[in-house]
Formats: sequence, structure tokens, C-alpha cells
Amino acid sequence: MGYRQHLVRSILAIRDSGGLLLADGSRAQVRPVLVGRNRAKLAEIAARHDVEDVSTDLDEVLSDDAFGVYGDFLVTSQRASALRRAIAAGKAIYTEKPTAETHAEAVELAELAQRAGVKNGVVHDKLFLPGLLKLKRLVDSGFFGRILSVRGEFGYWVFEGDWQPAQRPSWNYRAQDGGGIVVDMFPHWNYVLEHLFGPVEAVYARAVTHIDSRVDEAGQRYTATADDAAYGIFELAGGVVAQINSSWTTRVHRDELVEFHVDGTHGSAVAGLFHCEAQPRVATPKPVWNPDLPDPIDHRAAWTTVPDNAETENGFRAQWEGFLRHVLDEPGHETYPFDLASGARGVLLAELGLRSSREGRRLTVADEVQA
Ligand SMILES: NC(=O)c1ccc[n+]([C@@H]2O[C@H](COP(=O)([O-])OP(=O)(O)OC[C@H]3O[C@@H](n4cnc5c(N)ncnc54)[C@H](O)[C@@H]3O)[C@@H](O)[C@H]2O)c1
Repeated sequence: MGYRQHLVRSILAIRDSGGLLLADGSRAQVRPVLVGRNRAKLAEIAARHDVEDVSTDLDEVLSDDAFGVYGDFLVTSQRASALRRAIAAGKAIYTEKPTAETHAEAVELAELAQRAGVKNGVVHDKLFLPGLLKLKRLVDSGFFGRILSVRGEFGYWVFEGDWQPAQRPSWNYRAQDGGGIVVDMFPHWNYVLEHLFGPVEAVYARAVTHIDSRVDEAGQRYTATADDAAYGIFELAGGVVAQINSSWTTRVHRDELVEFHVDGTHGSAVAGLFHCEAQPRVATPKPVWNPDLPDPIDHRAAWTTVPDNAETENGFRAQWEGFLRHVLDEPGHETYPFDLASGARGVLLAELGLRSSREGRRLTVADEVQA
């Protein structure tokens, strides 16, 4: 994530396009400093991309006034301590999710940032995907009438690492290293549901480790201690029921790796990463259940493609640009909704999801927040 999405696709893309376009027509240029543990690897990336500054000493960089924003794309388990240091140094914070390993720590980080007066943002990339932008447009237009339900399918097969290398880092499958699909995906589902349909009020989830032994990057077999699939039901304010399956142990028979199917009284829509299809009630076919005959209706043909109607850029870059405008106090960007407080709500949903699964019961967000 740090290299591909945040450095290459976002920061360097902004730099190479001449900098961030500001409201007054001028441009603000970005200057990255790469921080990591291995100087040789950092130097190689820096040379490849014409980056001047690298360091293996985070605290030294944090004490340098030349750099105003700390971006965190570390493994989750290392995040909180780095964020604390960056907040103490007065840097603006932009971080991957989950923001911490526990809700208590995520809230503490949000409060620390607020007290220190540092601007802060958390990756909410799914909201910037073309498919979800179009879905949001449908919601805002009133297309659905009263929204009844949302069904989300996220997932694909992640290879076990023995006969084909795994396509995700092995720490994702070790709970002790901050792994697990609930911790990874529920923070996303929290902001997606909150911004499109309403805040989550209650959750029931079943988290499972279907594949309990995998092979890591070094070819060593290890015990998978983290959940690799989660089956969740989320109750939203206003009565919408959302069901979302998240799985690294499913084979894709869908058009996209994530899809949301939304049903409302006046229309339905299916949105993925890129595409969005809609069916209004006036164009809804009338199926009749008859197991003796093949269905005469071509159901997929009864949907209309929702057009893009605008150029969309990489979602990570789009969000970075919004955050940098917030940091620069650009008009219209004085407040920033995708902050550490929002990130903490995502961590809470993950925590509640895991607890719900362990205890086999539905949990409400309000009960947890009061406790
Ligand atoms: N927004 C999204 O869609 C999305 C997708 C995947 C991952 N993520 C999040 O991004 C973060 C990174 O995930 P990733 O898939 O890029 O993982 P990764 O393993 O590829 O990258 C993690 C980085 O942290 C470094 N690191 C590991 N241990 C460290 C330590 N002890 N000290 C300092 N550095 C250390 C590694 O060298 C590596 O550069 C995670 O928090 C994950 O939840 C977000």
C-alpha cells in the first residue's frame, strides 16, 4: 500500500502533474521523504522515482520542519506508536486503516490529535471508487425511495502459499501480528455504510479461519491464527439492514471483487469498484416462481448502466488531494470528515464484530460506547 498506492499512485502522481491545483489557480508542490528500516531498499526506490530524501530515523524526520505531514502505511501493529510520535511532533497525520489495534487506543489517538490541534485523515478509499461514487449519486437523488437492505460480497481466493505464492502478506493471517479479515475489512464497511446509508447501530458477525495452515514469504509453513472469512449483519440507523460477506477463501463468480446490491421501494442498484447498474420500479420485471420451467426473463438485461458522467482518478490520490487541501486550509476544505474519530468508529466495528463472533450474539454500538 505504501509504495504502490500512496507513493507512486498518489504523491508522485501529484508531484509529476506539477503539484496540487489550488483554488486561486496556483499549485502547491509535494516533496516526499521516504522513511523505513532498510536504507538500501529506500535508496533504490528513491533513485527509481527521483526522490531526494530518505531516512531510517523517523524521529529525526519528525523533528524536521521541512516536512509537515506524516503518512503512515506500516503494518497495523506498528501504527499507534508511530502516530503518537508524529502527533507529539505536531505533524498533520494521514494514515491507513485500521488506525489502531483496539478501539480504546484508536479513540485515544483521535483525542491526542484533537488536543494537539493537528489535522488528521484516515484512508477511506472505497468512497472514492467510481462504482461507489455512482451509488452515492443514486442515494442522494432519492432514486431508491426508502432503502430497505444492502447485500455486500467482498472476496477472492488468496493462495495458501504452498503450490502458488500467496498474493497478500502473511501477517494478514496471523492474529498476533495484527491480521484477520474482520480487522482489515470492517473499518472499510463502517465508513461505506455510514456515508452511503447511515451509521451502524448493531452487528452480528461470524468470523472463521477456514484455512488454518499457510506458507509464508520465506517458504515456511505457519499456523493461520486469524480469521480469513467473516459473515456479518449490520443494522443501520433508519432501519436499513446490511449483510456483508468478506472472504479470502472464496472463488469469484461476480463481475468485480466487491459488489453491493441495494434494494429500495422505488429502485435497486448493484455497484462494484467501477460499475453501477440500476433498475427502477417502473422497469422491474415480474418473475413467477415455477421450478418446472426455465425462467423466461433475462434478469441481467433488465438493468441500466449508470454512466460515469465525470472523469474519476485513482481513489487514493483523490483522497490525498482532498486531505492536502484541508491541510492547506483551502476554501471548502476547512473540515475533514474522514478523520481519526471516523477511523476509531471503524476499529470499534471490527472489535464488536470479533466479540460478536466469539460470544455468538448481536451487539449494539451504543452499549459498547457507553461501556
Ligand atoms: N486501504 C486499503 O484498501 C488497504 C489494503 C491493504 C492494506 N491496508 C492497510 O495498509 C497497511 C499496510 O498493509 P500492506 O498490505 O501494505 O502490508 P505490507 O506488509 O506490504 O507493508 C507493511 C510495511 O510495514 C513495514 N514494517 C513491518 N514491520 C515493521 C516494523 N516492525 N517497523 C517498521 N516497519 C515495519 C514493512 O517493511 C512494509 O514496508 C495495513 O495497516 C493494512 O491494514 C489497507
